[in-house]
Amino acid sequence: METVALAFSGGLDTTVCVPLLEEEYGYDEVIGVTVDVGQPDAEFDEAAETAETLDLDHYVVDAKAEFAEVCLDSVTANADYQGYPLGTALARPVIAEAILDVAQEHGCDALAHGCTGKGNDQLRFEAVWRGSDLDVIAPVRELGLTREWEMEYADDHDLPVEGGNEGVWSIDTNLWSRSIEGGQLEDPGYVPPENIYEWTDAPGGDTELVEIEFEQGYPVAVDGEAMEPVELIEALNELAGAHGVGRTDMMEDRMLGLKVRENYEHPAATTLLAAHEALEGLVLTKEERSFKQQVEQQWSEKAYEGLLAHPLMDALEGFVDATQTKVTGTVTVKFDGGQARPVARESEYAVYSEDAASFNTETVQGIEQADATGVAKYHGFQARLANEVADAAAEKEAALATDGGETDE
Ligand code: ARG
Repeated sequence: METVALAFSGGLDTTVCVPLLEEEYGYDEVIGVTVDVGQPDAEFDEAAETAETLDLDHYVVDAKAEFAEVCLDSVTANADYQGYPLGTALARPVIAEAILDVAQEHGCDALAHGCTGKGNDQLRFEAVWRGSDLDVIAPVRELGLTREWEMEYADDHDLPVEGGNEGVWSIDTNLWSRSIEGGQLEDPGYVPPENIYEWTDAPGGDTELVEIEFEQGYPVAVDGEAMEPVELIEALNELAGAHGVGRTDMMEDRMLGLKVRENYEHPAATTLLAAHEALEGLVLTKEERSFKQQVEQQWSEKAYEGLLAHPLMDALEGFVDATQTKVTGTVTVKFDGGQARPVARESEYAVYSEDAASFNTETVQGIEQADATGVAKYHGFQARLANEVADAAAEKEAALATDGGETDE
C-alpha cells in the first residue's frame, strides 16, 4: 500500500489534490496534515470540515511555539526581505519539517503540496523535503492546473469548495504576518481598499507608549509583564495593530525572478524589529553594527529562500549570537500615526558616555577638547591631496590646449 502525506489547508488547491493523488498518481491512501503556525481558527475549522467531507485522514500539528522561536531569531538578525519581515517564508520550513515528521511516523512513501509552479513556497517546501528519502509530488505544478480547471474539477467531483473558497484575495496568515495578494491587488497601480486589512486599524491620531524588555537579543516582556514568545507576539500584534502599525505595500522579487505586488500586515514584527535595532544602536559598536548589516542581508535572503538549514545560516548566526550577548535592556516604543518609533532605550551594556558626548564637560578619560585638533588637521587629508593633484592636472591640460590652439593657426 502506497501512502502520501499532503500539506493540507482545505483550500481549493489542496482539496483537488486529494482525489488527484489517488486518480492521477495511483496512491492508495492520502493523509492530510495541517500545521498550526498561528492561522485564525476559521482556517482549522475549514480544513477539518473539508477533510471530513473528503473522508481524508487528517492530522493537525501545533508548531506555534517552535515557529515563534524562529520569528524571534529573525529579530536578532533584524531580518526583512525588501521590507517584508518574512512571515510566510519563515513558516514554510517549520511546516515542511512537521509534515515530514508525520509522514515518517505513518510510514508514508511520499510528500505532496498544492503550490503552483510560480511561487516561492514550492521551493521552500521542497528544500526541506528533498533531504528525506520520500518522493515529492507537486500536483498543481506537475499537471499544469489552473484555478478554472480546479473549480470545474471540484464541481464535477462534488468536492467541498464554496465558490472558490477564499474570496477575492489570496491570504496567508501566521503569527508573524498576514499576506494579502491576488485579484485587483496584482495591479501595482491599484490602491488597496481599507478592507484588505484585518490586523491593523487605519492609523489614527492617538498615540501609545509600550515598553519592551530584551534579554540577549530576545524580547521577554511587554510593559513589565513577562511573556512566552507566542503570547508576546500576539500581544504586540493587538497593541500595535490598533495603531495601524506594520503595513507594507511593496513590489517583491520572488525567487524565480517574477516581480509581484504584495501587501502585508505585521504589527508585532515591525515593533520588535524597531525596538531591537534601537537597543543595538545603544550597545553595539559602530563596527559591529555596520558588519552586522551585511550579515543580516545574507540571513534575510536565505530565510526568504526557505533555507534556514543552510550551513551559511549557522555561520551567520554564530556572528549574530556573539553580538546579542550585550543586547539586554529596555526600549520604549511610541505607536504614532501608523509608526512604531523607539523613543527611549536603556541598557547596562550601553557603549555610551554622557560625559564624553556632552558639551559641558572638559576632560574625559584624560582627553580634552583640544586633543581633537590633531585629528581635525588630518581628517580629509587624502581627499584634499587627491583634489589638488586633479586640479593641477586639469590646469596643465587647459594650458596645453590653449598653447596648441595658438601654434596651430
Ligand atoms: N510572497 C510572500 C512570500 O513568498 C507571501 C505569499 C503568501 N501567499 C499568499 N497566498 N498570500 O513569502
